[in-house]
Amino acid sequence: MARSIFLFVVAALLASTAACSDDGADPSGSTDPTASSTHDEPAGTDPREPAVLCPEGEAGPVDRSDPPTSGADRQVIEGTFDDLVPLPAEVSSGDGSFVIDQEVVVVAAPPDAEVAACLLRDELARSTGLRLEVAGGDAEESSPARQIRFEAGPGGGSSAAGPGHPEGYRLEVSPDLVTIEASTAAGYGWAVQTLIQSAPAAVHSPFRAEAALAFPTGTVVDAPRFGWRGLMVDIVRHWFGVSDLERVIDLMAGYKLNVLHLHLSDDQGWRVAIDAYPALTEVGASTQVGGGPGGFLTKDDYRHLVDYAGRRGITVIPEIDLPGHTNAALHAIPELNCDGVAPEPYTGTQVGFSTLCIGDPAVEEFVRTVLAELAEMTPGPYIHIGGDEAHSTTTADYQAFIARTLDVVRDLGKVPVGWEEVGTVPGSGELVAQHWLDASIAEAAVAGGASLVLSPSSVLYFDMAYGEFAPDGNSWAGTTDTREVYDWEPIDQVAVEPSAILGVEAAMWTELIETPDEISLRLLPRLPALAEVAWTAQDRRGWANFSTRLSAHVARWEAAGRPYVDDPGLG
Ligand code: ACM
Repeated sequence: MARSIFLFVVAALLASTAACSDDGADPSGSTDPTASSTHDEPAGTDPREPAVLCPEGEAGPVDRSDPPTSGADRQVIEGTFDDLVPLPAEVSSGDGSFVIDQEVVVVAAPPDAEVAACLLRDELARSTGLRLEVAGGDAEESSPARQIRFEAGPGGGSSAAGPGHPEGYRLEVSPDLVTIEASTAAGYGWAVQTLIQSAPAAVHSPFRAEAALAFPTGTVVDAPRFGWRGLMVDIVRHWFGVSDLERVIDLMAGYKLNVLHLHLSDDQGWRVAIDAYPALTEVGASTQVGGGPGGFLTKDDYRHLVDYAGRRGITVIPEIDLPGHTNAALHAIPELNCDGVAPEPYTGTQVGFSTLCIGDPAVEEFVRTVLAELAEMTPGPYIHIGGDEAHSTTTADYQAFIARTLDVVRDLGKVPVGWEEVGTVPGSGELVAQHWLDASIAEAAVAGGASLVLSPSSVLYFDMAYGEFAPDGNSWAGTTDTREVYDWEPIDQVAVEPSAILGVEAAMWTELIETPDEISLRLLPRLPALAEVAWTAQDRRGWANFSTRLSAHVARWEAAGRPYVDDPGLG
């Protein structure tokens, strides 16, 4: 039982991110995977030549006017495997280092490795000024001399999740060769993140490093504890757009989180384009808490984010909060109200006052159409229907509406997700219930057939203040410092079989968060603590060791221009 639920969630999440590599092995979007900006002639036209992959990538133009060399006079900064977060299942260090210079070629033998190989090339381009060649699978191991090779393999071998875990990987670095073995696109991707994190902090800087950067030598064998390692971002209460979300995705990927749950609608705004109801964004998107101008994702924006996240192993789960938390929709479309009268736009922070007109055919049609358009542009397996705090909907109406809406999602071929209240609806059946407030409700949901994702507000609501040393933030669920996040053991949270727990997800509501810097302050250093809770086997975790490793990440955040809270608990 434990194994089957575990495999389901892993397979479902993997399928959605692997889809991006299947149909987009070339991250530039070019239709010619053999084209190359670093070669005069397209490589790969001669069947004996290995194909050159990912010609442009996302790193933007790289300054090649003074390409760094491997000259003996050049200073080399070596990285380390000692500070990895989350802690891998096995890690050992060797002697010497692998210098990243223009001689290095990346070889992506299995097609599943291409996206990860191109991501590695792009990540290294920023800080090294190098645009390493990425070759297809038939490049000889002996030529050229120094390679980063992606190989097919069983993946991570010794985590709690067992051998051959689909997200697992094996990484081996010697002075002349880096070998990455995995069995899925996600496994290759997590190995790349480990490799990048083992490089010196300067690898995260947008500026080119003076010195050459080098990977440490050694071996990492790794696989995650939980298949669902998430973060919810509320882009309603205050609007955050594509580039802000890309920054969040980059941070998540670096710590091996794999689910981005986007809260796309609420009382204060509607944030995603729906063709059948243009008023949702023409009228319903131009508000936010405090009355700012708001904003919304076009369908192209949304698809771009899904793709950007997918290339980094992250599945996007869209949430349309129903039937409460709907003032923006009710304001935009009068027919969704029982009296046909649109309410005023709302820019405050109260909850529980809005509801769709349950049972009205116009509302049923609205829900079906919105969820269908959302499903059509969401390759991931999940659609989140909210369902929380519907205090203005009668119990009978709530139950009937949720039961119908769960079926709408299932009929669209998706697995429904809802806040834990959804699991209390009689006959709600198999779904993912997101625990946030009341363990007894989550336990009832499991009894009714749900699986759980754990987002207890007392620990994982990152809109809460840290404590007296960082008092900004909400307070209704108490304060949460980094150590509290780290010391939390998910399976003690609710009295259910551990096999019913798919994983964990932090939530970041944005009533009080107005800028990207404030997002960063709420996430750092708590997000890496959550990442280790989610990834690392419980018997390998310990605060003292973690806080020492995480302290070394401050230099990474500074290099990347990410503000962070100086949590005194980290020592
Ligand atoms: C919630 O915090 N209302 C899910």
